[in-house]
Amino acid sequence: MAIRINGQDTTLAAPPHATLADALHDAGLTGLHLGCEHGVCGACTVLLDGEPVRSCIVLAAQAEGHEVRTIEGLAPDADTLHPVQQAFSEHHALQCGFCTPGFEMLAVGILEREPGATPERIRELLSANLCRCTGYKPILAAVLSAQQVMAAQ
Ligand code: FES
Ligand code: FES
Repeated sequence: MAIRINGQDTTLAAPPHATLADALHDAGLTGLHLGCEHGVCGACTVLLDGEPVRSCIVLAAQAEGHEVRTIEGLAPDADTLHPVQQAFSEHHALQCGFCTPGFEMLAVGILEREPGATPERIRELLSANLCRCTGYKPILAAVLSAQQVMAAQ
């Protein structure tokens, strides 16, 4: 199936029942993590046409003809982090890092779709994902910081 992934037209050889998460893993894009595999934790979040989705409960076939972005495509180049990645680092918004790819893709989706979102709105949207380590304040602080950086770009 033909899917545009991180800006490149890609053909995935995935069976009809394959989830998008499994198809991306099989294609070598292993940055997304599988936690619950039931659509609860958000560790597997990627962007589908710019919208954060839980790739463990989306079929790869549903992404055919659409654009998927994963954590691998976030940084503009090998020496530069995306503002969200930079802010997560600066605000210590991760410990074990298991939830981090999902949180960062969720954050990018939020900030691109709603650049003027209030802190309360961002807090509400971030509540979709779970972190078992940091508590959520550093994550919220990082996303608010990245919002300012992205607004100035
Ligand atoms: Fe997909 Fe938890 S692994 S939501
Ligand atoms: Fe460990 Fe979030 S940093 S689960």
